[in-house]
Amino acid sequence: MLSQKSIDIVKSTAPVLADHGVAITTVFYKNLFAAHPELLNIFNHVNQKQGRQQTALAKTVYAAATHIDNLGVLLPAVKQIAQKHRSLGILPEQYPIVGEHLLGAIKEVLGDAATDDIIQAWAEAYGVIADVFIQVEKEMYREAEEQENGFKEFKNFKIVDKVLESDLITSYYLQPEDGSAVPSFSPGQYITIRLSIQGETYMFNRQYSLSQAPNQHTFRISVKKESEMNPNGKVSVFLHENAQIGDLIEISAPAGDFYLDIESSRPVTLISGGVGITPMMSMLDTIAKVSPARPVAFLHSARNKKVHAFDDNVRKIMSTMEDTTHLALYSDDKHLITKEILAENVLKNSDVYVCGPVPFMKAMIQSLYELGFAEDRVHFEFFGPAVSLDLECVNSENTTLA
Ligand SMILES: Cc1cc2nc3c(=O)[nH]c(=O)nc-3n(C[C@H](O)[C@H](O)[C@H](O)COP(=O)(O)OP(=O)(O)OC[C@H]3O[C@@H](n4cnc5c(N)ncnc54)[C@H](O)[C@@H]3O)c2cc1C
Ligand code: HEM
Repeated sequence: MLSQKSIDIVKSTAPVLADHGVAITTVFYKNLFAAHPELLNIFNHVNQKQGRQQTALAKTVYAAATHIDNLGVLLPAVKQIAQKHRSLGILPEQYPIVGEHLLGAIKEVLGDAATDDIIQAWAEAYGVIADVFIQVEKEMYREAEEQENGFKEFKNFKIVDKVLESDLITSYYLQPEDGSAVPSFSPGQYITIRLSIQGETYMFNRQYSLSQAPNQHTFRISVKKESEMNPNGKVSVFLHENAQIGDLIEISAPAGDFYLDIESSRPVTLISGGVGITPMMSMLDTIAKVSPARPVAFLHSARNKKVHAFDDNVRKIMSTMEDTTHLALYSDDKHLITKEILAENVLKNSDVYVCGPVPFMKAMIQSLYELGFAEDRVHFEFFGPAVSLDLECVNSENTTLA
């Protein structure tokens, strides 16, 4: 339990910490990795370099401090982060390590302004916040392990098939090495894959959405080759160039809070940009199998035909359904999913799911809100650390797609 004095201190100093949030989390990560280089086996080094992880952590700490006397309001946000933590195998014993280095970083950045009282209050607050995460994650590990064919942390899977879906996207079909069946999942969820790459010191963890309906035999992930930037994407390029049928990779159980509400009978609108199509494939495939009469609109934006994955697959699945619309637009032809297109094609009263590059999501979600869609009907997934969508300053011209 936090004392009232600590609550008051944490709340009154939260804005100061927020002002220095990214500086504090940058120092935090530098010191954390210097003292515990083994944690580099878990963290995504690119998210670090691009600052997205620092910003995500700083924002969460600020939000938690602001609501320190009523953390319940943050539970949805905590659960989303906890899903990512669970899929990465984060453990309770790692929380004190993070706490020590976070407090150390606050002291280092704030200097004399960080009095003993302030540090003490933040140490207590961190303990309370960490406990919430630990409890939520404990329950998630339990669920992952206890479900049929479930498992707790990582498990070896074998690549049993590899299928080219477009010039840039390849699907990998994965089966447990031990011959067991695969657990079920909610369509839209992701797995984390963990692998070692020859010549690299640390392991790599990356999330990939499952791209077909749940079934007992295989997980399917579909990976875009990130080879157009310097440096190239490590894991996606490794998978495309090196991973062969028969190879083993470690996978954690499905996770994530972006998933189709299969209990709902409302129409569904699936809106994707580039490789953001992957969770939509799982949702579409599932609807076709469990409620083929449910109306679905599938809107997709790709750069051009060559990089447009799953086009035939979408048509084939839709041919087994009763009420579908399908629109695929190519940005190279200057055809974008505009607000007008959304107004015409998003199904009335539908559950809307959006996934794609951040600028694409900003543009889609801003337009959906302007068209009157309620926030609780519009669901979205980031293919990286969650970022603020800053919806008031949308600029759809920046959208880049695969
Ligand atoms: C929930 C979730 C679901 C996802 N689902 C999918 C999916 O279904 N399919 C899919 O393909 N991806 C998906 N992703 C993204 C995926 O996890 C990886 O981020 C993606 O494959 C890139 O990983 P990589 O190792 O190839 O690239 P990284 O090595 O992580 O690099 C990422 C990008 O940053 C650039 N970069 C690398 N180093 C630097 C640097 N120092 N400075 C600036 N830029 C740099 C690279 O060129 C590349 O474009 C998902 C992510 C999340 C969080
Ligand atoms: C109360 C303490 C913590 C808070 C508030 C916190 C917050 C966050 C946030 C906001 C994210 C980004 C989620 C997203 O992808 O959108 C994240 C991801 C992550 N967290 Fe935590 N976290 C905490 C503790 C820990 C601990 C103890 C560890 C273990 C060392 C850890 C490891 C990670 C990793 C590896 C990621 C993924 C980062 C990546 O993609 O590089 N976190 N956390």
